[in-house]
Amino acid sequence: MEQIAQDSRLLVATSALAAVGAAVIGVKVFSLFKTLLELYVLKGISLKKFGAGNGGWAVITGATDGIGKEFAQQLAKKKFNILLVSRTASKLETISKEIADQYGVETKTYAMDFTKGDNEDFARLGDMMSTIRVGVLVNNVGTNHEFPTPFAEESDKVIQDIIEVNVKGALKMTKLVLPQMQSERSGLILNLGSFAGMVPSPYLSVYSGSKAFLSTWTQALAKEVENQGIIVQNVNTYFVVSSMSKIRRPTFLIPLPKPYVASVLAKIGLPCGSSVPFTSTSYPSQGLANWFMNLLSPNFWITQNFNIQKDVRRRALRKRERLAAEAAAGNKTA
Ligand SMILES: NC(=O)c1ccc[n+]([C@@H]2O[C@H](COP(=O)([O-])OP(=O)(O)OC[C@H]3O[C@@H](n4cnc5c(N)ncnc54)[C@H](OP(=O)(O)O)[C@@H]3O)[C@@H](O)[C@H]2O)c1
Repeated sequence: MEQIAQDSRLLVATSALAAVGAAVIGVKVFSLFKTLLELYVLKGISLKKFGAGNGGWAVITGATDGIGKEFAQQLAKKKFNILLVSRTASKLETISKEIADQYGVETKTYAMDFTKGDNEDFARLGDMMSTIRVGVLVNNVGTNHEFPTPFAEESDKVIQDIIEVNVKGALKMTKLVLPQMQSERSGLILNLGSFAGMVPSPYLSVYSGSKAFLSTWTQALAKEVENQGIIVQNVNTYFVVSSMSKIRRPTFLIPLPKPYVASVLAKIGLPCGSSVPFTSTSYPSQGLANWFMNLLSPNFWITQNFNIQKDVRRRALRKRERLAAEAAAGNKTA
């Protein structure tokens, strides 16, 4: 009798465990199916909603290189007029002319260095934006540590620059356009986030923290304005070929800016592998990587990340020593 009662308790416990296991696997399979559907089948919200081809302007910061330049070109192709904001006036002029000639849209430029955090710069830019109908803001400009560096050894200047550009720059730009978007009851704000904001990056701690700030702030702001016709989205980015990433050749996981930006603009409003609200990981291989990363513990990824950063730092220091030795040898022969 005792044996039968024990066996039936064991059966109930085993069945309950199996049911929980099946439910967990079911949820994961469903989320994989949903991710695949979003990455490969579903279309995002149309950019026409934000004024494409209808006199609407897109404002892009950090618009003269890499991902930002590609946003400027692809949004112009979709018939937004383009306001390019970046550091170097000569580059801005060249790209603005290229865009106007190629896509037949209006362009404006504003040169400013975001590291200066100059309120007069933002005020002048605000005046310029008050004369146009801004449908899209891409908070793209970003800066990083020169190479992985322990926080205690990082220069105050690098820390301040990252906060001025990545954090305060996005806040100030958004503050300038939001009232206009609220009165139009329409707008799209894309914040260039990073996997480094999702998985903390030791030795890139300030950059990583700045992108985590962007992620959290994006979610809070997105909720505040979601019923006002305004979409705010964190663009969760793994590596992309660019000067900042120092990666020159694309791979399966690391695209060129062109396909990367095309995937972002095609999937507005779809998470595509991200489990964080108001966030999209729209490039297919990166979306799948994001989905996979959610299966394992954050601590596992922080440790992996730390090992990678240690290795990158070792190589960067070796390169620095080699260049210093070559320069010293060059000075002797000169
Ligand atoms: N590339 C990646 O692997 C990757 C991964 C995750 C996230 N992201 C994010 O994506 C965004 C764009 O990165 P990217 O790789 O395309 O960068 P990038 O190729 O280095 O281009 C940076 C752009 O920003 C401008 N810029 C840099 N510092 C500036 C400053 N202080 N003031 C004004 N403009 C400034 C540059 O202008 P000048 O040409 O005049 O210098 C350039 O137009 C960043 O927010 C970055 O954190 C990139």
